[in-house]
Amino acid sequence: MGIEEALGVGLREKLKDDLLAADDKFALHVPKVELHVHIEGTITAELRWKFTQRNGTKLRIAKNGPELKSLAEVQAAMDLLRPDPSRMENNKEETFQFFEAYFEGFECLKTKEDYFDLAMHYFEHAATMNVRYVEIFWDPQGHTTRGISWNVMMDGFREASKQAEEELNVKSAWIMCFLRDLSTESAMEHYKAALPYRDIIVGIGLDSNEMDRPPTLFEEVFSLARRDGFKLTMHCDVGSQNTHEHIRQAACVVAGKGLDRIDHGLNAAEKQDLIDLILKQDVGMTICPWSYLRHETYVELGPKIRQLYDAGIKISINSDDPAYMEDCWILHNFLLVKHLCGFDDKDVIVLAKNAVNISWAKSVVKQDILEEIDVVYERFYPTQ
Ligand code: ADE
Ligand code: ZN
Repeated sequence: MGIEEALGVGLREKLKDDLLAADDKFALHVPKVELHVHIEGTITAELRWKFTQRNGTKLRIAKNGPELKSLAEVQAAMDLLRPDPSRMENNKEETFQFFEAYFEGFECLKTKEDYFDLAMHYFEHAATMNVRYVEIFWDPQGHTTRGISWNVMMDGFREASKQAEEELNVKSAWIMCFLRDLSTESAMEHYKAALPYRDIIVGIGLDSNEMDRPPTLFEEVFSLARRDGFKLTMHCDVGSQNTHEHIRQAACVVAGKGLDRIDHGLNAAEKQDLIDLILKQDVGMTICPWSYLRHETYVELGPKIRQLYDAGIKISINSDDPAYMEDCWILHNFLLVKHLCGFDDKDVIVLAKNAVNISWAKSVVKQDILEEIDVVYERFYPTQ
């Protein structure tokens, strides 16, 4: 479908306001697990400004753009960068613009304190939406290539994870994503360099621009990671080139038998054989509805998500890159999917439990959250 049919920024803002106006207390209170959020996708204008002020560095929105001199200028520049179909020709252009903005955002991160504050900023948002456990993506290559040391990154993340568990009741683990548009050698180098930090790393993922970079290219490093005991996932972005073949490889080829989860993979809804395969392989999927508003028509999106759900695939609901998506976090994504798919609160329970079940948390953590979900349901819908 043409990108011109997707919702522009103004309509997405209005949709967000309308969804929040309904004041859905059940969606807010249901205990949640988030499995697809990029920590670098949570760098808001306010955080960029704070970090650059603190570090005495210059802030630009594009590589060769002008230096921005106030928070208002940063906010205005980020607003302009938000993907808007009315300003773009096609999905390829939209993808390119998203990644340009996203990777420029990394530049403001310099110190351990920056990494700590970034992660705490996410955890604080998550806590207000009753997230109890999260597996967070980060892209180490986007930091090491700027001269940031592993210790700076990982010590900041580790301290934030510890504090969030103690003070906010949010448990967490980290998923190291390789940038698929960089070389497989770079992925392997980063894999080996990350091993000293594996106490907080639960899984390995693959993200960034999918063009000409199929899952099987990364077979060697993913097979090694599985042998070493990591869980595996990969992005199969919506509407990307050869997406059906990429989903097939992710579901049953990579690392000998396919991955443990697939990130996005929404186009599987168009092919019954892929739906059957995902079911047979029992692969969970992380769905991020708000991010698809930029690629899919509003009317087609709900039925596609519904089709995966109705088939019995374990889909979970997630936020992806909130700073680039109208400041929409996991709660907004739950509200959107209820609205688009006609889900009721029983469906919300299924989605919340799916996320727990396909997570890589320890079984005692899973059990506690599953029980808490039932308690909240009983509070809203007492059986008597
Ligand atoms: N990195 C951050 N967000 C991403 C997305 N939506 N797809 C692929 N890579 C990403
Ligand atoms: Zn993603």
